Amino acid sequence: MKVRKAVIPAAGLGTRVLPASKAVPKEMLPIVDKPAIQFIVEEAVASGIEDILVITNRGKSLIEDHFDRAPELEEKLLFSGKQQIYDEMVALSRLCNIHYVRQKETRGLGHAVYCAKAFVGNEPFAVLYGDDVIVSQKPAIGQLIEAAERFDKCVVGIKEVPSDLISSYCTLDVSPVEDNIYDVFDMIEKPMPEEILSNFAILGRCVLTPDIFDVLAHTPPSRNGEIQLTDAMRTVAKHGGMMGVEYEGKRYDMGNKLGILQAIVEVGLAHPEVGTGFRQYLRELSKSL
Ligand code: UTP
Repeated sequence: MKVRKAVIPAAGLGTRVLPASKAVPKEMLPIVDKPAIQFIVEEAVASGIEDILVITNRGKSLIEDHFDRAPELEEKLLFSGKQQIYDEMVALSRLCNIHYVRQKETRGLGHAVYCAKAFVGNEPFAVLYGDDVIVSQKPAIGQLIEAAERFDKCVVGIKEVPSDLISSYCTLDVSPVEDNIYDVFDMIEKPMPEEILSNFAILGRCVLTPDIFDVLAHTPPSRNGEIQLTDAMRTVAKHGGMMGVEYEGKRYDMGNKLGILQAIVEVGLAHPEVGTGFRQYLRELSKSL
């Protein structure tokens, strides 16, 4: 298989980061000087993705504006001799072919992915959750795509999470294949204590084949009334079609307040322009903690 397309579901309501996400999509919350979704688009582009579909909804038009040209701003930048930032702004609008579709009702991640059916057609595709930013040497979705193309199967991005947190994630039944690659046999979303399969959880990325749409079409809503992507992926796993890659990289959950703070601090420390000053500031501040 060859993975050329990616889907970024970004239509969630972000209730855990209100009031910040009331009028500004959580995917647009900045990590120092870049909105979260730009990190995600850049990761997809660096992994060889040619076309991206962002799943949006009524409140998310800022995302479209961000990846569009901005003629007045560009003119002003050129006029005032700010060539470098002008070039950056134009390059941003040319990053990739980005398409948009609206999820008309917020019926869960599975339903959001189903909205990509026409865009995906008959090809495998990558899914990058719009509120999960992953900073890594080698782009995380690229690591998954490599395994999907090699084994010709669906792949989920996995990591071990602490025992006391696994009930907030999707627990996995896995068996090692080689290095950081696993077979995935089963998965349970937000398990009860007696349902925990392992501390491995799906975190933010997967590569799927178009058969998932038939499965999603027959997946009923779960306990909270949402159609879960993991319920559909479970069917694939049970039929032997799913692998897991324990990807290299640090994941930041932009859907929760602590995750946002961690992203800002760590990206800020590594930032070429403000990193040194920020490090000094944190050193001083830490003395009073
Ligand atoms: P989350 O469950 O983390 O997002 O979905 P949420 O629903 O916005 O979260 P809270 O609980 O209200 O804070 C993971 C990803 O799936 C997208 C979200 O935008 C996020 O990127 N999503 C979720 C959709 O696109 N549509 C949905 O109906 C639900």
